[in-house]
Amino acid sequence: MFLSVALVVFVGLCAAAIAATRGLADEKRRRKAPADAGAAPLEPPTPPRLPVIGHLHLLAGYDVPYKAFSALGARLGAVVRLQLGAVKCVVVNGQKNIREGLVTKGSHFDSRPNFDRYQQLFDGNKENSLAFCDWSDTQKARRDMLRSHTFPRAFTNSFVALENLISRETLRMLAQVTPGEDVELKPILAKNCANIFFAHFCSKRFDVDDARFGDLVQNFDEIFYEVNQGYAADFLPFLRPLLKRNMARMRGLTRDIRRFVEEEVVGERYELFDAEDEPADYVESLIKHVKGSPTGEFDWNTALFALEDIVGGHSAVSNFLMKVFGFLVNEPRVQRRIQEEIDENVGRDKHITIGDRKAMPYTEAAIYEAIRMIASPIVPRVANRDSSINGYKIEKGSVIFMNNYELNMSEELWERPKEFLPERFLKDGNVVKPEHFLPFGGGRRSCLGYRMVQLVSFGVVGGFLQNFTVAPAQGELYKVPVGSLALKKDTFKFKFVKR
Ligand code: HEM
Repeated sequence: MFLSVALVVFVGLCAAAIAATRGLADEKRRRKAPADAGAAPLEPPTPPRLPVIGHLHLLAGYDVPYKAFSALGARLGAVVRLQLGAVKCVVVNGQKNIREGLVTKGSHFDSRPNFDRYQQLFDGNKENSLAFCDWSDTQKARRDMLRSHTFPRAFTNSFVALENLISRETLRMLAQVTPGEDVELKPILAKNCANIFFAHFCSKRFDVDDARFGDLVQNFDEIFYEVNQGYAADFLPFLRPLLKRNMARMRGLTRDIRRFVEEEVVGERYELFDAEDEPADYVESLIKHVKGSPTGEFDWNTALFALEDIVGGHSAVSNFLMKVFGFLVNEPRVQRRIQEEIDENVGRDKHITIGDRKAMPYTEAAIYEAIRMIASPIVPRVANRDSSINGYKIEKGSVIFMNNYELNMSEELWERPKEFLPERFLKDGNVVKPEHFLPFGGGRRSCLGYRMVQLVSFGVVGGFLQNFTVAPAQGELYKVPVGSLALKKDTFKFKFVKR
């Protein structure tokens, strides 16, 4: 989640209009060492704040708001309390402290912010959402049910099926690319990744030329972009009327998605499925769970939201892949190294599959490096009780920003962090991930899709580079936006040169 340009502009104006009430000297006086274990927690340091907007102005001037959190951390200490408009927040910096929040005290910080936008996007109730709900028995059940589908184990039937599926869809993507011409890649990736997800979770595939399917994929992409934004109105409720039109449009898109899922994806399956049978896919797992739910608390509506959320994960993958290609186009050296690895281990005649992953550590490392560089934030958490991190008091209800940007981009943790160097994830020919690399969060709210990301990205990047070299399109410059996963609908094109 990041705060949009609109917010930055807005708070910039506010900051210019309202003078700060206290100075930096005060801040430094309030800064204290963290409490010893067992001692009463201390109040976290907090900078001087402005009326109404609180500390929102401190985010102005940063392209990525998490850079502001790093600057605050360096100035005031690892745990900093902020008042962002009407919302009390805490910024947590540093691997040890972030792990304390995500894992050691994961059950204290397992809720998500109560932004009005989330309520609106999920039929007036953010508890319908997999990613934005608070922790509950329903969420535990949803997560437990998903695991076997999102983390297929190697050598199982479902892994082999996924392997074939990724391979088939990658070949279809390659066939949609005209070598040597400028290619609008995003819709190609989005539709075929959607088909991987629909086939894997719902046993359904759609024709990429089907206009209704095209609209569906675009709707998912727009909503994905929307949930990855942060607005001033999230923190300043009196600004919500400014979002009214956009939110009405988004609600319309979610309704269209629901109609498509009911008519084209589920159809008669709910009625036809016998609850005694073994589920063949995620749709049937959901149906079985709903039919077997003794209290009726996990109803079909909840199940449909979970289904939409998880197939919507294809937007995360296709946006991420666009960014991977955006990095690679600027890194001919990395492309060549991946191509050498492909030639050595797979050759040009056999199609690459996710089964080749183990033999291709450099390619896998390049994907990790892209994940590091985009430094997508950990979805903010909320404290469900009074607690502490690093000996500092965290009040119940505070929104917690775990500063993942700092973990990914710090000069202290990484050598030359601004450069794209897959080698940093390799040691003696094996992929190694440092402890401070937490791109998928951790603990009970950790990402449910990371294995899908790794597998699909490997298959698609491998397939493209086996056949093509990625080159710049006419007049295109590639500055990949970081600090978020989402890319705008109209974004860069690429040229693919046949090898
Ligand atoms: C490069 C792509 C992705 C990145 C960097 C990413 C990262 C994350 C992060 C940081 C979180 C929050 C974790 C936490 O609070 O500890 C998260 C949550 C989540 N992710 Fe991902 N994700 C990606 C792709 C996906 C995909 C493809 C799916 C679906 C298959 C997915 C499904 C989810 C869900 C459902 C949650 C919420 C889990 C919960 O709150 O209980 N993600 N992701």
